[in-house]
Amino acid sequence: MPFAAPTAAQLAREASTDEKSTQSNWRQVHATHASIEWQVDFGGEVLRGAVTYDVTNKTNASTFVVDTHAGLTIKRAFVDDIEAEVLMGKPHQIFGTSATVPLPSTRKGAQHKIRFEYATAPQCSAAQWLEPAQTAGKKRPYLFTQSQAIHARALLPCQDAPGAKLSWDAIVDAPRWSTALMSGLQADSLPFISKKCQPLKEGFKRWHWKQPVPTSTYLIAIVVAELESRDISARCRVWSEPSVVDKALHEFAETEQFLKAAEEITGQDYVWKRYDLVCLAPSFPYGGMENPCLTFVTPTLLAGDRSLAGVVAHEIAHSWTGNLVTNATWEHFWLNEGWTRWLERKIKARTSGKGQLLEDFDLATSQRNLTGAVKHFTVIGQGALTALVPPIEGVDPDDAFSLVPYEKGSSLIHLLERTVGEEKFSKFVMKYIKEFRFSTVTTAQFRAFVLQELGPVATIDWSCWFHAPGDVPQALALDETLGARAVALAASWRKGTSSLRSLAGWTTDEKVAFLDALGAGGDDGRTESAVSLAVLDAIDDAYSLTSDANAEIRSRWCKLLLSAGAARSVALAVDFVTCQGRMKFVRPLYRALRDSPSDGAAAAALATFLNHASFYHPICRKMVAHDLGVDLAAAPGRDLRRWALVGAALLFVGLAARRRG
Ligand code: BES
Ligand code: ZN
Repeated sequence: MPFAAPTAAQLAREASTDEKSTQSNWRQVHATHASIEWQVDFGGEVLRGAVTYDVTNKTNASTFVVDTHAGLTIKRAFVDDIEAEVLMGKPHQIFGTSATVPLPSTRKGAQHKIRFEYATAPQCSAAQWLEPAQTAGKKRPYLFTQSQAIHARALLPCQDAPGAKLSWDAIVDAPRWSTALMSGLQADSLPFISKKCQPLKEGFKRWHWKQPVPTSTYLIAIVVAELESRDISARCRVWSEPSVVDKALHEFAETEQFLKAAEEITGQDYVWKRYDLVCLAPSFPYGGMENPCLTFVTPTLLAGDRSLAGVVAHEIAHSWTGNLVTNATWEHFWLNEGWTRWLERKIKARTSGKGQLLEDFDLATSQRNLTGAVKHFTVIGQGALTALVPPIEGVDPDDAFSLVPYEKGSSLIHLLERTVGEEKFSKFVMKYIKEFRFSTVTTAQFRAFVLQELGPVATIDWSCWFHAPGDVPQALALDETLGARAVALAASWRKGTSSLRSLAGWTTDEKVAFLDALGAGGDDGRTESAVSLAVLDAIDDAYSLTSDANAEIRSRWCKLLLSAGAARSVALAVDFVTCQGRMKFVRPLYRALRDSPSDGAAAAALATFLNHASFYHPICRKMVAHDLGVDLAAAPGRDLRRWALVGAALLFVGLAARRRG
C-alpha cells in the first residue's frame, strides 16, 4: 500500500535550515575562532571578560550580529582594534537580544577581528552559582554552566546556532583554591593573549583551555569548583568534589570500554583526544551533557553498582552523533538524540555481552517512556510537539524538550537497521558519519542519504515518522525475554500478592520494568491505573523499596506512592526533589505531588519549590515554575532566596490548617 505523500509544508520542514532560534547573521559572516578571557567572580556571581572573534565575511555583509541573553552586558566592542559602536536589538523574551557591530569592509572574503568586552549577569540562564552550603564540601562556592540548547548566548555574545561551528581557546582566571575545567583540552599557555587582556589578579590562578575541533556554541562549558581527579585510563579521567571522587571512579570505571566499543561501531577513532567526566553538584539539571572532552554528569548516577552508567555510554556516543555530526537546527534535534540513543544501545549491547536481548529490553522501556511523554504533551495541549520534526518556530527549545526525539528517533533508526539487515546498516552508519562529520545534517539530508545508500526502503512511511504527532507509527517486534519476569511479577501483584519475597539478583532495569508495569508511568508519564495502597504496602514489606536509594527506582516508587495517596509519600517525594535537581526526576515528581490525593501534597509542592528555588539550576527552576504555574518574575539568583520565606510561610499555614482539620 503506498503511503500518503508528504505535503509541501512538510517537505520544507524536513529540509529547513532556517534558524528559528538565533538572531545572529552567521550565514553571512562566519566566526571561525573565538578567544575567550574570563575572570570568575564568585562574590558578584558573574563572569567578566572578553571574547575576540576571527570572522570571515561570506557574503557582502556590512555588519556582524551576535546573540546575547539574560542580562549579559557588552561594555565595549572593537573591530580590528578600533573601538566600535554596538547596536543592541529589541529584546525577545525567548531568543534574547541581538548585538550588531559594523564591518569596515563589505568585501566577500574579508577577515576581521571583533572583540566584545562584557560581563554575564547573576541571572545568567546558563550558569549556576552555588554557595558553599550547597556543595558536598560546604567550604567553597561552585560554578557550572549548561548551554544546550540556546543558553550559550547568556554566557558569551555569540552566533548561537548549531551550524555556526568554531574552534576556540580560553584564558580563565579563577580563585587559587579552585580548579577551572572547560569542554576542551588543557593548554600550557596560549600564544594569542591580547594586549587588552587583563593581568592576573592576586589570589587568582590562570587556566588555559583550547578546543581545536570546530564545535557548536552549545558545547561551550565551564565548571569552577574545589575538584579532585582520578585516572580511569590513559585518555579518561573523572573529576568531582574530593569527597565524591572515589565513588565516581568506581561508578564510571567502564568508560574506556564504552569508548573503544563506540570506535568499533562507528569505524572511526575518537577525535577529541581526551574523554574526561565531571560528576557535578546535585543540582545539575540533566543526566549527562556531552560537552566535548569533558562530559558533565549528575551525581544521581552514583548508584554504587554501575547500574546507571549507561548515561556515560550515551554521552560518549554523542562524540560522533551530535558533536561531530550535528543537527542543522533544533528542528532536527532528533538526529542528535535519536542516533545517540541508537549508538548508546549498541555500546551497551556489546560491552554487557547481552547483545540484542538487552537492546530489545531497553527499547521496550523506551517505548513505555515515549507513550508517557506523548500522553503528557497531549494533556497539556502541546501534542504538535510530539512530531519527530516539530513545529518550533517561536517556541523555547526548553519547552519543546521531550523524550520524543530520543525514543521515536531511535526507534526509526532501529527499524531501518532491522529492515535492511545489521551488516548493511553497519556500513551505512560508518559512511553516514564520514559524510557529515565536522558539519551538520537536516532530516531531508538524512533521508536522501538513506535513499542513496540503502535504496527506497519501501516499508518505512517516512512522512508519518517525521511529521505525525504521537507514538511510533510502526512498532518494532521486540524480544521480551529480559523483561518477562518483571512483567509477570507485576501481574501477580496486580492480583494482590506474590510468593517472591526478594528481588535479590534482579538488575535495576528489571526493577524499573516491574515498577513501570505496576503503573509508575515511565520517565515523563503520569502514573496510570496504578495498584492500590494496600498492594504497594505489601510490596514494600517484601522488597523494602522505600529505602532503595537508586534514583531510577526511587523516582518511580515515589510516583506510585503519591498516586495511591500513601501518607509517607509526600515526605519521601519532598526529600527526593530537594536533594537533587535533575529535571527528569524533579519535574514529574512536582507534578505528581501537585496531583496527588495525599494529604497536603499539592501545598507541599508549591511550598517546597518556593523554598528551594535557589537550589535549582535556572533552567530547571524555569521549567518547574512553568509546570506549577508559579511566576518567579525572573528573579535573579540571589533575590530568589526571598522566595524561601514565602515557601516557609506557605508550609506553616498548610501545616496549621491540617492540624486544625
Ligand atoms: N544533550 C543531552 C542533554 C540535553 C538535551 C541538554 C537538550 C539540554 C537540551 C544529553 O546527551 C542527554 O540526552 N542526556 C540524557 C541521557 C539519557 C538519554 C541517557 C539525560 O540527561 O537524561
Ligand atoms: Zn543525548
